[in-house]
Amino acid sequence: MIHQTLKPFPKDFLWGAASAAYQVEGAWDEDGKGASNWDKFVRIPGKTFKGTTGDVAVDHYHRYKEDVRLMAEMGMKTYRFSVAWTRIFPNGRGEINQKGLEFYDHLINELKVNKIEPILTLYHWDLPQALQDEYGGWESRRIIEDFTNYSVELFKHFGDRVKYWVSLNEQNIFTNHGYHLATHPPGIKDEKLFYQVNHHANLANASVIKEFHKYIPDGKIGPSFAYSPSYAASSSPKDIMAAENAEELNSHWWMDTYVWGKYPEVAWNYLEEKGLAPLIEKGDFDLLKEGKPDFIGLNYYQTTTFEENPLEGGIGSSEMNTTGKKGTSKDSGIPGLYKTIANPNLERTNWDWNIDPQGLRIALRRMTNRYGLPILISENGLGEYDKLDADGVVQDDYRIEYLRSHIIAIQEAISDGVDVMGYCVWSFTDLLSWLNGFQKRYGLVYVNQHEEGVHDLRRIKKNSYYWYKKVIESNGTSL
Ligand code: BG6
Repeated sequence: MIHQTLKPFPKDFLWGAASAAYQVEGAWDEDGKGASNWDKFVRIPGKTFKGTTGDVAVDHYHRYKEDVRLMAEMGMKTYRFSVAWTRIFPNGRGEINQKGLEFYDHLINELKVNKIEPILTLYHWDLPQALQDEYGGWESRRIIEDFTNYSVELFKHFGDRVKYWVSLNEQNIFTNHGYHLATHPPGIKDEKLFYQVNHHANLANASVIKEFHKYIPDGKIGPSFAYSPSYAASSSPKDIMAAENAEELNSHWWMDTYVWGKYPEVAWNYLEEKGLAPLIEKGDFDLLKEGKPDFIGLNYYQTTTFEENPLEGGIGSSEMNTTGKKGTSKDSGIPGLYKTIANPNLERTNWDWNIDPQGLRIALRRMTNRYGLPILISENGLGEYDKLDADGVVQDDYRIEYLRSHIIAIQEAISDGVDVMGYCVWSFTDLLSWLNGFQKRYGLVYVNQHEEGVHDLRRIKKNSYYWYKKVIESNGTSL
């Protein structure tokens, strides 16, 4: 659909950027913080790129004032960050660590003074290790109570100042890496457990959303989902069916459950046949239905293209490109359902992520048609090698192009009728990539931090920072 004129961005559109505690804070064992699953995992040799850890990360814990100053100078309307559960409850539950609450109090107050709307993510992958040790973390239903208890403490403490909340960040990604690919903690490959873990996470998500509405009736909450719309490789009905299968199993499986409190039939039947469907207890579906989100958070990076994959001799899962060398990723799939294939119409990044702004518009429209909820774009950005040149400038014009084309796609989707609440660039400053160290950079602000050696961590505005400042000032008219 081609619009003669595009609708303007809403007046109160939340232009912003995002981060996650483990990736920026550092201070991993300061002021009473407990150890998280990531604090443990990164210490296992060979798990992360060049053995990088978040021990220091980009030291946001000590430099948050400077970071917020940079946000304010850019005119940012919102900042999405996550709370480290282990700062609040070092062992996952029990006694509150006041110093942990204080850090986020200071950060939130600093944001409010600068008229930046906080968006608080309750869980961005850093689980208290104590809960993993005690009962396997997400593997046990006991996580529902502990996650709810932790979340309610945050609602009570920050609810007067924080109105936008994200419950779970990318449940599909952290469970896939944690229990299927074994590349994130706890590093397990067990398909049956993967679906059980997801059922617990769905219940925990619903439980905190249900509580949220009691404590912060004037606030909004939703999960952030990593949605990669599925394309068919050709017009062959077999490839189209492969793409449908992927959409059912990789997207509807999660989003339908968040919004409607029930699992989608096709995916459920497939999993039941395979003996992979999760065990459900009495009352589970009631809880799932009671935890309806106010919006869906969309983390959009790319689309994925699928073709048919035979049941006999078809290809299974394989590894991602964590080398930063273009063309090193391998196709993966589920025999009998689908396999991925490179899309010749799309450019790829050095990490083989497809660059597809139209895919964002497609994602927004599909989600609106199916769920009818407002959408917060809680992450979108480009990970690339950025270089600080001899004049102290970071010429990330490729990032500007990436962001510009995606913002145009959002405006087209708004003109199509999609209700988009805001847009958070991933990320505000450079930060630690879970598996790619500091070489894969996403920030609008460069941070002098690297995998090896000790660095001064100074902040340098990239060209994209200045460009985004104008976008915000003009409410998206100057692109
Ligand atoms: C998202 C996560 O999946 O992608 C972020 O929510 C992450 O935490 C981002 O950093 C980019 O991933 P990567 O692997 O390129 O660092």
